[in-house]
Amino acid sequence: QVFHLSDYRPTDFAIETVSMTFRLAGADTEVVSQMTLRRRDGVPTDAPLVLDGDALQLVSLAIDNETAEGQRYEVTPDRLTIHDLPADGTFSVTVTTKLDPAANTQLMGLYRSNGVYCTQCEAEGFRRITYFLDRPDVLAVYTVRIEGDRSETPLLLSNGNPVEAGALDGNRHYAVWHDPHPKPSYLFALVAGDLGVVDDVFTTASGRSVDLKIYVEHGKEARAAYAMDALKRSMKWDEDVFGLEYDLDIFQIVAVSDFNMGAMENKGLNVFNDKYVLADPETATDADYANIEAIIAHEYFHNWTGNRITCRDWFQLCLKEGLTVYRDHEFSADMRSRPVKRIAEVRLLKAHQFPEDAGPLAHPPRPVTYSEINNFYTATVYEKGSEVVRMIATILGAEGFRKGMDLYFERHDGEAATIEDFVKSFEDATGTDLAQFAIWYHQAGTPTVSVSVNYDQRSDSLTVDLEQSVAATPGESAKKIMHIPLRFGLLLEDGSEAEPAEVSGARVDGDVIHLTERRQSVVFKSLGGRPVLSLNRGFSAPINLSFEQSSADLAHIAKHESDAFARWQALNEFAMRILLDAAKLSRDGRTVAVDPDLIAALIASASDETLEPAFRAQALSLPSEADIARELGSNIDPDAIKRGRDAVLAAVAQALKPVAEKLFDEMATPGLFSPDAISAGKRALRAVALSYLSIAEADPKRALGVFDEADNMTDMASALQILAHLFPGSAEATQALAAFEGRFGGDPLVIDKWLSIQAMAPGADTLDHVKGLMETRHFALSNPNRVRALIGAFASGNPTGFNREDGAGYGFLADQVLAIDARNPQLAARLLTSMRSWRSLEAGRREHARAALSRIAAAEGLSTDVSDIVKRTLA
Ligand code: ARG
Ligand code: ZN
Repeated sequence: QVFHLSDYRPTDFAIETVSMTFRLAGADTEVVSQMTLRRRDGVPTDAPLVLDGDALQLVSLAIDNETAEGQRYEVTPDRLTIHDLPADGTFSVTVTTKLDPAANTQLMGLYRSNGVYCTQCEAEGFRRITYFLDRPDVLAVYTVRIEGDRSETPLLLSNGNPVEAGALDGNRHYAVWHDPHPKPSYLFALVAGDLGVVDDVFTTASGRSVDLKIYVEHGKEARAAYAMDALKRSMKWDEDVFGLEYDLDIFQIVAVSDFNMGAMENKGLNVFNDKYVLADPETATDADYANIEAIIAHEYFHNWTGNRITCRDWFQLCLKEGLTVYRDHEFSADMRSRPVKRIAEVRLLKAHQFPEDAGPLAHPPRPVTYSEINNFYTATVYEKGSEVVRMIATILGAEGFRKGMDLYFERHDGEAATIEDFVKSFEDATGTDLAQFAIWYHQAGTPTVSVSVNYDQRSDSLTVDLEQSVAATPGESAKKIMHIPLRFGLLLEDGSEAEPAEVSGARVDGDVIHLTERRQSVVFKSLGGRPVLSLNRGFSAPINLSFEQSSADLAHIAKHESDAFARWQALNEFAMRILLDAAKLSRDGRTVAVDPDLIAALIASASDETLEPAFRAQALSLPSEADIARELGSNIDPDAIKRGRDAVLAAVAQALKPVAEKLFDEMATPGLFSPDAISAGKRALRAVALSYLSIAEADPKRALGVFDEADNMTDMASALQILAHLFPGSAEATQALAAFEGRFGGDPLVIDKWLSIQAMAPGADTLDHVKGLMETRHFALSNPNRVRALIGAFASGNPTGFNREDGAGYGFLADQVLAIDARNPQLAARLLTSMRSWRSLEAGRREHARAALSRIAAAEGLSTDVSDIVKRTLA
């Protein structure tokens, strides 16, 4: 079945209140849901009520509290249709269903994780609990009563505020929760189990006190302290930056160990993958801390952008996701180093969203058709969606952006809105026409901007010629001309910024060029000498830049830009060129030589003490093998890319040795571990230094020394990775892997790191090793974190291992996707997206990939999730 945006119409009935009772009793769990409904104006009185279900078992049905006769309704596991409804238009329907949460392996709806009852309803999981109008534009006020065994489920939680609790017969008890804010069913949540709690209080700007609670497995309370701190900072930040306060008496977060995604923003009761809550120095890396901070903030920020204002339909998903990612990006930028955060965002965008946009799964941030909504929780909806919001802020400026946001909240609070509503708020608040800009929401594909510059000495003027294009994407061959905001700088020879006396051509506002036609030029006059153009500062637009800038100009930008992100961008671009050449040379069996100017630029950045360590670490981290493959675009041989890149790394490592030695010593962080951004930056720079030194010395001993002495997981994991990836099979690598397993064997979240590091070890032998790891006690096909840590890391983080020349990697992935699909379709479909770039492989590998995909496509009983991905991937 295919869903189209153009088919949208409101429901015939509104659901005004829902009163639910959950009788939790293992395989005999019962759910009673009483809805009060209202027929909407203009709907004929004979219109039936058609409720969504998914694999449901109906126990009984009542209308206005009277048992419904069989001829009044038709029921299947996925639909309940009720006829002959009361003519007066307001009535109640009571649906009773029976569930077996432990048998729910899809982890959608009500399921059990480690004995804890929990729910995941976005996007369409509520219909696996009860028959309902399970769509985001049906907003109701919920009251939820939960009954459960006192010993198994001392904790009974749902959305909103607690109103009542008490004892029942037979060692049972109950609790009642009421959520005064009307919400769609996807924001419903229930958690019941035996968990430990961390408590705190937050006082809002207007002086209301909010109880904060984070629930984790008993004994892990101390590991929730950082998440609590991040939550309080998020609440404060949303008040300071957007003027948004929390709106209930209590805010709760529960960490569960079986979860399909990162986390979920259920009203007042966020449910998290425990990976994004639990952290302490011994078990979490700096990256884990940063992720926890970002995801805690993301889910909290959804309270306004997602919950108070939700989506009219699932085509509008990026209305809440793109905007909320933008908000969490800004939060992290304020908490940490803004340029370093921006570098990380752009690396992620290019690594995940650009390939999606360039391949068979490309879609606009606001799609108009889907067959499985779960497959649209993508990098495009989230990350590109965020970039689109960032561009609005760039075009309108900070003040205009805030005005637009304020108007959006004022107009749509309590509603289910659309992208059009969102854009209109900015237009009306600032009097700006964003019609052309809005194409970003509706058109797939990464635009390319081709640039050429011409400096005329006699008139001291620089002409910049710009041309935009977007390659065809599935279902969209003709592309519209977009509004692309390009931040820029003009750097003079001494590094200072030129201030042109006159600018003509395309519209330029401050440091932004607005490209709004296919071809446009800008002429800058009276510059005071030939400037170097630094374009797309801060990655102001998510585009591919085609600009034949000389290496000398790139090095000039890397040295003098006032925008630190642009410095990194220039250096990265310079390195990319060298790496692309190296890949081609090694493909042809030729020797790789490295431009000494690149090495000089890297050394200059590494030793520039005015730059923060975290930035220097980024500057020294060359583009990955996957980055190089993406830039090559076609006929990819991952082995040649790796050989070329290794040769470049070796040359850089030799030249960098003295600087790396110095950094290795200077960047040590003795004393008590602190996860703050500055200390994390030092650890990151020291790890990069260690990696270059290990290459230069061709000896694992230094890394083993770091591993043995490490008093925190960041240092330990980076040393282990160096050992396992640069010295596979060495005695030192084997020893460290065994030590790690011995020490953390009882802690699955930490063992995930051990699994991933091994899964990403380059080379054709890794596949057998991965298969071996699947047989150990550390792995379970039923746990999404384990699957992603081992199989996911192998398929999307190991270019040479996964893309083995004989195609065995693809065959293995096909086997796993089919096995997982039988129990958890969402997880299987997500794993399969690692095949999305198969058409850019060289011919031999491409045919192996096609065969594996065809085998999946031909399998019987595929879920709609996997069948949707495999069909589009092969199309
Ligand atoms: N809304 C959640 C978040 O971004 C993610 C939910 C993902 N749901 C899904 N069906 N994949 O915070
Ligand atoms: Zn989200």
